Amino acid sequence: MVKLKNIQKIYPNGFHALKNINLEVESGEIYGIIGFSGAGKSTLIRIINLLEPPTSGEVIVNNKDLSKLSKKDLLFERQKIGMIFQHFNLLSSRNVFGNIAFALEIAKWEKSKIKSRVEELLELVGLSDKKDYYPSQLSGGQKQRVAIARALANHPHLLLCDEATSALDTKTTKSILKLLKDIQHKLNLSVILITHQIDVVREICNKMCVISNGEIVEEGSVEEIFINPKEEVTKELISFLPPTRDDNIIDKLEDKNNVYKVIFTGPNASKPLISQMIKKFNIDVNILSGSIDEVQDTEIGHLVIKFLGNNAVINDCIKWLETKGITTQFLH
Ligand SMILES: Nc1ncnc2c1ncn2[C@@H]1O[C@H](COP(=O)(O)OP(=O)(O)O)[C@@H](O)[C@H]1O
Ligand SMILES: [Mg+2]
Repeated sequence: MVKLKNIQKIYPNGFHALKNINLEVESGEIYGIIGFSGAGKSTLIRIINLLEPPTSGEVIVNNKDLSKLSKKDLLFERQKIGMIFQHFNLLSSRNVFGNIAFALEIAKWEKSKIKSRVEELLELVGLSDKKDYYPSQLSGGQKQRVAIARALANHPHLLLCDEATSALDTKTTKSILKLLKDIQHKLNLSVILITHQIDVVREICNKMCVISNGEIVEEGSVEEIFINPKEEVTKELISFLPPTRDDNIIDKLEDKNNVYKVIFTGPNASKPLISQMIKKFNIDVNILSGSIDEVQDTEIGHLVIKFLGNNAVINDCIKWLETKGITTQFLH
């Protein structure tokens, strides 16, 4: 669906904002690009629809190299790429109906077809009763729903979201993310979203990459990266998830040695591997905490356990767990 090849972006003032970006997003994915402020996220997403031309490299969307298209063809392809923004970018002089209709007017839809299409879109985003309201009369969440309806007006196959929930409170963020997920499913859209909020990625993305100083430093399935983040910047981003109580529990232990976190995913979550390990190695363990997180539709179980036994046996236990596909982290 989207392929970026060797993208470089050097702004006219000489600032090297993107360095050799290679990215592939498959059709039907919700792909999250996460990074701290200034990492190059907005530059990158604007390159995908060529709002920002890359200095070099190829931008291929739906098998077309956008930089090789004529102006007219590019405008047409852009209509198939919807985009929403942090601050909604609605026209204050037009009501909800008018804001959505605007996207169709630009695409030169026949007047007679515009009304029914706008009504369909209002229904899709749950705003049928607000069609005569002006942006100033809407909440942030409602404004973003209007923006989503407008972005979907021309039946795009790709939706780009630039920090779409960053101006919203937690509850509204959840409802907008749910709407995006439902719409993605219903319309079989591909979605690329950029954010600095790791919980947004956890909530709706299936694949992700981490961008830092204009470079993609880590990439993979959301599940893989959450279980086993490799880069410091990824670990730091993930640390913004609500804290677990593990640290408190460990602090209270008199003997803090041999404490491990073991992480189970998918099919392993339902196997009695810890009890098998206890029998096999004749070892005692003390379970200090346990929790199950849901990342996408996969359950990830975390157990913090303290081994009671000699180090050689503990090492054998850890090796055995790893052969069973369990991730372990040494804590103390
Ligand atoms: N038009 C521009 N000219 C020069 N530098 C820019 C321009 N736009 C953005 N930058 C710089 O590029 C870097 C990445 O910006 P941006 O893509 O907006 O990051 P993000 O969205 O991750 O916060 C920043 O250091 C920013 O100052
Ligand atoms: Mg930005």
